[in-house]
Amino acid sequence: MKVAVIYESRTGNTRRAAELIGAAVAELGHEVGVWSTGEVNLDFLADADLVFVGTWTDGIIVAGHRPGDKRRLEAMPGIWGKPTAGFVTYAVHCGKVLDKLARVVRARGGEWIGGRAFRRDKLPEGIGEFVVAALEAVGGPEAVGLEAATSSD
Ligand SMILES: Cc1cc2nc3c(=O)[nH]c(=O)nc-3n(C[C@H](O)[C@H](O)[C@H](O)COP(=O)(O)O)c2cc1C
Repeated sequence: MKVAVIYESRTGNTRRAAELIGAAVAELGHEVGVWSTGEVNLDFLADADLVFVGTWTDGIIVAGHRPGDKRRLEAMPGIWGKPTAGFVTYAVHCGKVLDKLARVVRARGGEWIGGRAFRRDKLPEGIGEFVVAALEAVGGPEAVGLEAATSSD
């Protein structure tokens, strides 16, 4: 499969999450590109089978959580019809930021398949599982290195 990872990051945590996602995708044998929202390779994105979109959590810690630099996310290239998994990083509490990221992804035309929040001081915990779940949702068992089931007699 061809997988595009797009992120928004100010201090590097979400970029690190994006790079970890990219490395996990590559390790499973897929072609992957990782870019910030303003640098996406449009030819690659047009051919992608799966997209990951990530950003940081902006809020007042206990409330008001929203996707960080939302306007930049809203200005990213259209991801028309592509299955898209979201990810966010946060410090302490991220509330319903994934629901709001889902809205942004849908507004760009992406088909939201689910998302996951990663606590910045716990990275890379959970990245591998997240990548496997997203790849499997789109490409089936073979996309995560399992042999296709054969009919038994
Ligand atoms: C203006 C601002 C608001 C933030 N609000 C929250 C918040 O409400 N909850 C939280 O857990 N982290 C909050 N954070 C922390 C960031 O979401 C966290 O450090 C994130 O990993 C930063 O990602 P980046 O390094 O990719 O920029 C805030 C950070 C900034 C700069």
